[in-house]
Amino acid sequence: MGAEIKWNHPRYKSLLFVDRAAQLILKLAGHKDKELSLYLTTDQDIAQINQQWLGRQGPTNVISFSQPEHTASRLLGDIVISLDTAEREAKLAQTTLQNRLTALMIHGMVHLLGYDHEGSDGEQIVFEKKEKELIKALTGEKIMADLCINVDHVATVRQARGGVEPDPVAAAVLVELAGADGIVVHLREDRRHIQDRDVELLRQTIQTRLTLEMAATDEMIKIASKVQPDIVTLVPEKREELTTEGGLDVASLEKEITKAVARLHEASIPVSLFVDPEPGQIEAAKRTGAECIEIHTGRYAEAISAEEQDREFDQIAEMASLAADLGLRVHAGHGLNYQNSARLASVAEIVEFSIGHSVVSRAVLVGMERAVKEMLSLVKKGRIV
Ligand code: PXP
Repeated sequence: MGAEIKWNHPRYKSLLFVDRAAQLILKLAGHKDKELSLYLTTDQDIAQINQQWLGRQGPTNVISFSQPEHTASRLLGDIVISLDTAEREAKLAQTTLQNRLTALMIHGMVHLLGYDHEGSDGEQIVFEKKEKELIKALTGEKIMADLCINVDHVATVRQARGGVEPDPVAAAVLVELAGADGIVVHLREDRRHIQDRDVELLRQTIQTRLTLEMAATDEMIKIASKVQPDIVTLVPEKREELTTEGGLDVASLEKEITKAVARLHEASIPVSLFVDPEPGQIEAAKRTGAECIEIHTGRYAEAISAEEQDREFDQIAEMASLAADLGLRVHAGHGLNYQNSARLASVAEIVEFSIGHSVVSRAVLVGMERAVKEMLSLVKKGRIV
């Protein structure tokens, strides 16, 4: 279930926040299990729709079409919005297109809920009250997810030579300056990339939030209790794996994980559990007392066919919704890159993404030209030409 969005505009092909806002509005209106069709179009097109269906002249900002009540369809109705009018209205009100479009979606939704404002004064008052209620509920929700960057692989390059550069702490400062919402590091038992010193220095340096990924071992719990990251994400760890291969099997290890969660809570550290998108794992995660889960997005990221990716996407969206209903905060990560992240960002319940390898990989490439030019200027200095 959710919102199906169609775009018909020469300048706008998609806007990420619209997907998220539409899903949130559906949820806040109490119709999470229904479908909403949202059509974002031009003035010219909406004028035609206005004429054909309502017998009115000219363009307008929003038109709603409710699904007749007796139909068994899961479709709640259609909302048509003119992006041209929304854009003009945003300018006039000195607000952003995002705010204006969100207000229009809410207006359309209130109509779909059966309210009207064109009858008596009383009806108008009730309509506006409902509209305000939804706006208030929505502003309490986050529309944009946070992005936390994992800098492990900056340390991987450093460890390749066993020297001091590149320093993941310096990288973390640049990540923050670029606007990321947090820094993530995984302190592995074998210390293959991040070192104890990195975690300690990051704690003293970064201004956003520090997420420490770790195995639920006694050694790691002691380190976390001393360093005091903002949150710990418990992950499974196998020495021979190249990267974290699967989610924590919380369903089988419930007793041990519950103890680890309790010890971290004693040290005042909130806990997230890295789990596969499976109902049994999510329900077990809730029982451990953890306040958050991070959904393992590996299967989605590695899907080869479009059908497989669709299937994995639906599974993640469904599990994110289940976790949020259980009162868990939902994060997601693993294998996300410049091709597959935007689609997941439309899942309203996911409030934080943890992305590492693809960002560090791109940083190496986009920084290459400058790095070579700087070295060239040094090497060529020695030449008399
Ligand atoms: N989340 C967790 C729990 C992880 O273990 C990792 C990999 O270190 C990530 C997110 C980030 O994955 P990637 O490096 O593929 O973006």
